[in-house]
Amino acid sequence: MSEFPTVRAIGWSLLGLVLLLTVFAQCFWPTSDEDGFNWNSVKATTNYRWKRCYRHYQCTRLKVPLNYTNTSSGWAGLAIIRLPSTFPTMSPSYQGPLIINPGGPGGSGVDLVLRSGMDFSRILDGRFDIIGLDPRGIGRSTPRVKFFETYSEQALWLDGEYPDALNASTEVLPRSIARARLMGHLAEDQDDGMLRHITTENIARDMLSIAQASGDDKLQYWGFSWGTILGVVFATLFPDHVGRMVLDGVIDAEDYYASESPSGLVSQV
Ligand SMILES: *[C@@H]1O[C@H](CO)[C@@H](O)[C@H](O)[C@H]1NC(C)=O
Ligand SMILES: *[C@@H]1O[C@H](CO)[C@@H](O)[C@H](O)[C@H]1NC(C)=O
Ligand SMILES: *[C@@H]1O[C@H](CO)[C@@H](O)[C@H](O)[C@H]1NC(C)=O
Repeated sequence: MSEFPTVRAIGWSLLGLVLLLTVFAQCFWPTSDEDGFNWNSVKATTNYRWKRCYRHYQCTRLKVPLNYTNTSSGWAGLAIIRLPSTFPTMSPSYQGPLIINPGGPGGSGVDLVLRSGMDFSRILDGRFDIIGLDPRGIGRSTPRVKFFETYSEQALWLDGEYPDALNASTEVLPRSIARARLMGHLAEDQDDGMLRHITTENIARDMLSIAQASGDDKLQYWGFSWGTILGVVFATLFPDHVGRMVLDGVIDAEDYYASESPSGLVSQV
């Protein structure tokens, strides 16, 4: 997992300041896997209905309000994946669900669990259910933020993709910031009123909904990079609902919210 708290990850997390969603957010996302599992067929419900998916995993879609103070504003359907604990839930070794978040903002927790869920489970002696979600607005969750009209538009955009390291040349940083700003405008142009509901605060509320849907009053969470900001926001909003929390590859939250020249970026690059 050393790939997460890297200069690159931290650098990109900080660029998230400039716009809502960054490099991870794409309009066209695979909605079915090679085993034939199709996310589009998963109905969003307010309680969990796990379906077997991707061989060893279980998937579901949780229905949450777009606006937690006005449920007439519509609903989001959060795509959630689970790698179950190796212990039965009645076992004293079973420790319940643990949500992991890769950062971004806009990183897919479903992808993270598919890529590294087994590693997380092994590190934790199989005692937790490893849970990943695609935060509202991205990936397999609905509704989804749109940036492009067509696949070709997206392909053209991605063609000008970022080089590997922010320090590869003096051009990379300004160019990345310009692209990030532009991407923000693209999302704004395509917005049908949903963007204002895609906030860190609402994603934190969604994590509480996810915990509560499994009957837990406390969150167990492991966040990387921007995921540490999400953890801090959760703990600030819901101090009484923090069970266990690991913040890994930590971003300075005060600096993140206070300035546009994040100290993390300056000191890392
Ligand atoms: C959410 O609903 C409340 C109550 O109707 C409203 O005051 C608030 O502006 C809404 N939030 C957003 C982001 O639309
Ligand atoms: C809730 O949202 C709906 C739809 O956006 C709006 O018509 C209604 O006035 C809102 N209710 C409150 C209490 O703000
Ligand atoms: C960029 O930073 C990394 C990590 O500090 C370093 O290993 C690498 O040599 C740097 N690359 C350039 C082109 O300066």
